[in-house]
Amino acid sequence: MPYNNILTTTQNGVTTITINRPSKLNALNKETIQELHDAFNNANDSVDTKVIIITGSGEKAFVAGADISEFANFSIENGGKLAAKGQDLLFDFVENLSTPVIAAVNGFALGGGLELAMASHFRIASTNAKMGLPEVSLGVIPGYGGTQRLPQLIGKGRAMEMVMTAGMINADQALSYGLVNHVVEQEDLIPFSEKIASKIQRNSSVAIGKAIKAINANYKDGINGFDTEIAEFGACFGTEDFKEGTAAFLEKRKANFPGK
Ligand code: COA
Repeated sequence: MPYNNILTTTQNGVTTITINRPSKLNALNKETIQELHDAFNNANDSVDTKVIIITGSGEKAFVAGADISEFANFSIENGGKLAAKGQDLLFDFVENLSTPVIAAVNGFALGGGLELAMASHFRIASTNAKMGLPEVSLGVIPGYGGTQRLPQLIGKGRAMEMVMTAGMINADQALSYGLVNHVVEQEDLIPFSEKIASKIQRNSSVAIGKAIKAINANYKDGINGFDTEIAEFGACFGTEDFKEGTAAFLEKRKANFPGK
C-alpha cells in the first residue's frame, strides 16, 4: 500500500514500519498517525507478520514528537480531540495489538515519539538515542499516554522529574531506568531487533497475543489482571497451537505452530 510518510517491508515474519519524514525529524502529523494506524492494523491482520518493528528513518531521530506546527493554534476543544484521536488510532491501538511490537529507537524520541516507543511492547535503543517528554516547555502536557506509561515503566518519581524538567535522558540512563531493554550501536539496531524478533517467532503467536492481553490487563482500570490471566490461560487449551506445542514437546521435536 502506498503511504506518503511511512515505509513498510515484510520479510522473514517481521514487518518493519519506518516513519519517513527525516527533514522534520519524523514528527507525527495527522496523516502520519493515520498511516501508522493503517500499517499496524494491516500487519496485525497479516499471517506473514509475526513481529512488528517500528523505527524512524535517518540517523538522527526516531520521532521528535507530535508535529508542533499542526496544533499551535488549537482551541481547548481541538486539543482534547487531538489527544483522544491519537490515543485511539495509534498509541492505545499499538499497545493492545496481539502482534508483538518492538520500538527500535534510533535517535531522538521526544514527546509523541517517546510515547509511541512506550506504547510499543518493549524498546531497544541505539547509543545515540535521546529520550524525553518536553511538552511542559511548550506550555502543554504529554497527551498521547505519556503521563501514564512513563511512570508505569520507570516509576513515579523519575517520571515526575523527566516531565517537570522537560529534559532528555541518554540511552544508558534509559537502560538503567528500565525504559529500554537493550542499547546497541546504531548500525546494529535493526539486526539486533530482528534477532530478538526471530526468537519471538519460534513461539506460538496465539499464546503471545494472549500473554500481551494478560500483561496489559494489569494496567487497565476496573480489570483484574489475575482474572484476565485465568481466562486467557484457559482459552489456550482450546487452540491448535497448544495441541501442537505440547505434542511437539512430548515427541521431542520442534513445534510448528499453525496459529496466525
Ligand atoms: N514538530 C514539528 N517540526 C519539528 C519537530 C516537531 N516536534 N521537531 C523537529 N521539527 C522540525 C524542525 O522544525 C526543523 O524543520 P525546518 O528545517 O523546516 O525548520 C527540522 O525538524 C529539524 O529540526 P531542528 O530543530 O532544526 O533540529 P536540531 O538538531 O537543531 O534540534 C531537536 C533537534 C529534537 C532538539 C529539536 O528539533 C526539537 O526540540 N524538536 C521539538 C521537540 C519537542 O518539543 N517535541 C514535543 C512535541 S509535543
